[in-house]
Amino acid sequence: ADEGMWLPMFIKRLNYADMQKKGLKLTADEIYSVNTSSLKDAVGQFAGGCTAEFVSAQGLLLTNHHCGYGAIQSHSTPANDLLKNGFYAPSPAQELPSPGITMDVLVRMDDMTSQVMAGVTPGMPEADRAALIAKNQKALGDNASENGKYVAYVRDFFGGNEFYLFVYQRFGDVRLVGTPPESVGKFGGDTDNWMWPRHTGDFSVFRVYADKDNQPTKGYEKGNKPFSPKKFLPVSMAGVSEGDFAMIMGFPGRTQRFLPAAGLQMMLDQTHPSSIKLRDTRLKIWKESMNQSADLRIKYASKFASIANYWKYFIGQSEGMKRLKTIETKKAEEARLAQWVAADATRQKEYAPALATIDQAYQRMREYNLSTVYYREAGLGNEITAFATRFIPLQKLLKDPKADPAEVKKMVEGLQAGATAFFKDYDAATDKKVFAALMQMYAADVPKAQQPEVFQIVEKQYGNSWAKYADFVFTNTFLASKSGTEAFLANPTAAKLDADPAFQTANSIYTNYATNILPKNQEQMSLLGPANRAYVAGMRGMNANKVYSPDANSTIRLSYGAVKAYNGRDAVHYDLMTTAQGILEKEDPTNPEFVVPQKELDLLKAKDYGRYADQRTGQLPVAFLTTNDITGGNSGSPVINGRGELLGLAFDGNWEAMTGDLVYDADLKRTICVDIRYVLWCIDKLGGAPQLVSEMQVVNNGPNPG
Ligand code: ARG
Repeated sequence: ADEGMWLPMFIKRLNYADMQKKGLKLTADEIYSVNTSSLKDAVGQFAGGCTAEFVSAQGLLLTNHHCGYGAIQSHSTPANDLLKNGFYAPSPAQELPSPGITMDVLVRMDDMTSQVMAGVTPGMPEADRAALIAKNQKALGDNASENGKYVAYVRDFFGGNEFYLFVYQRFGDVRLVGTPPESVGKFGGDTDNWMWPRHTGDFSVFRVYADKDNQPTKGYEKGNKPFSPKKFLPVSMAGVSEGDFAMIMGFPGRTQRFLPAAGLQMMLDQTHPSSIKLRDTRLKIWKESMNQSADLRIKYASKFASIANYWKYFIGQSEGMKRLKTIETKKAEEARLAQWVAADATRQKEYAPALATIDQAYQRMREYNLSTVYYREAGLGNEITAFATRFIPLQKLLKDPKADPAEVKKMVEGLQAGATAFFKDYDAATDKKVFAALMQMYAADVPKAQQPEVFQIVEKQYGNSWAKYADFVFTNTFLASKSGTEAFLANPTAAKLDADPAFQTANSIYTNYATNILPKNQEQMSLLGPANRAYVAGMRGMNANKVYSPDANSTIRLSYGAVKAYNGRDAVHYDLMTTAQGILEKEDPTNPEFVVPQKELDLLKAKDYGRYADQRTGQLPVAFLTTNDITGGNSGSPVINGRGELLGLAFDGNWEAMTGDLVYDADLKRTICVDIRYVLWCIDKLGGAPQLVSEMQVVNNGPNPG
């Protein structure tokens, strides 16, 4: 089946025979093995939320442009605008250290279910049970980290029915090697985002560095040399056609395929619409500022892209849930489950209470879900409150007469480092508008009884005008400027924080959330914990002959399927591949999202495709589709043929299947991939960096198996 994000250690047992039937030529050990080099050694989690793959013996990495975006932005200034112009390091010495970017490569994984469950008894109160499990998980992870040599953790699967350990090597010296201009790497912008047909060159190039023994370092080290990976991927010039076997290894972030109908309903009725509305407002204000100057455009580029990405996702998912009757389908499935449970006394005992509990818990959660959403999207959606919230632990510590001065010092240093990063990309005038607008909505939309205390002050003393209150806050806070914050941190006292209006506001919002909202949520969550476990176990029991893959949770997975076109809706057929012709069709010099760089226009009009044209059509391929089951976090993942060669990079999903994180629809769900030949063309012909292509192992072994 095309559905499924599979754990590599189970491929041999669960999927291998099926994969072979569909065109896989590698052995199971070549995909995942702890002892010999395998695919897992060529792939890693990039910057904590994306995927990247090695494509040379010298640690060269490919990932998406939108994954490298933050790093590319951090190196950009109006005078040297890498986002706008693109960049290729002429030599390794000019590759740009990018602090904070990490590459985690899996060493091994193990089933830890029985170890995690040690000491757990059937009748145990849920809170005690959860605490014991968390303690066991942490101890097992700490132990496997071998005193910091590895990054290791135990994650839960199937709603907490199974537990696995993951041990990674973390490389902290990752340098930017190259990127196309934004007009290529983000071509089509938010208009084309989450949609097919696509013409985006969504890639960027990095390199992993290691010490003289080829071991990871925590950060940049001058003496480091390019890392030599256990395995890297050859890049294929074969090109794709309908039915070719394709697999993707990567780090999908989160799916909720076992979310009950009541949870889906809360999402559709409350969470998505308010998130969309609040983000809409924030994005409009940011966009106005970004249009004012290059400085502001660069400062807000990365924040804008990430908020806009899920803004559009929520919109598409809401539309999809209605169009595809996602909730109705789930309800029917739950009705089947209820029948299956009712038919047998043991099942009744095990599963029957769960279904009732789930509906009740969501019913209760709906009463303050808006408070949770507005806390996250408005309370922390403006930057000044989010920043001021970071000072709450310091205030507590400063008020504690028994506090250890060393601990205070450490916390202050952490805040200092955070402040430097924060102010690099902060504009107080913009944020003041965001603060006023979002907080006004917060006050209007959330039930009065659930509101923070500061809302009453604004109502009584400022005539409920958050714009007026914003004037007061931004005039009087020291937290809206770098110098003010640094002066405070040089000589911090609790009294200064207590007197600061931004701090007061943040503290009031946070305290209200922590004392009035969160505990009520946790109450329902502790009911939902065991209920969800039973729900998932019941579903798996009822469909005993279906092999389920666990929901995504940012751990390494493999998806396999095929290159395939699709029908978007009645009478609408989408081809499986786009070409450079489409770039020229979309080109619009008056629309920033569809500007094409002059050099690219010249090359494309001259059909100067170099060796990268498709052998069958003579066209320059840009993007293609597969049926692979992926989600956010897979961004940058290698799309690999049956021989283990790189065909492209996964970078998006399609509009018709935005419900894919909730249900997999085989007819509609596609992964959008940038063709490796377009990547190489962009590096070589457009970017003038043929040395990077020479560093790769470019192969042409004929048509793909499958
Ligand atoms: N939708 C893509 C994903 O979540 C991100 C695309 C980024 N591009 C953009 N125009 N914002 O993987």
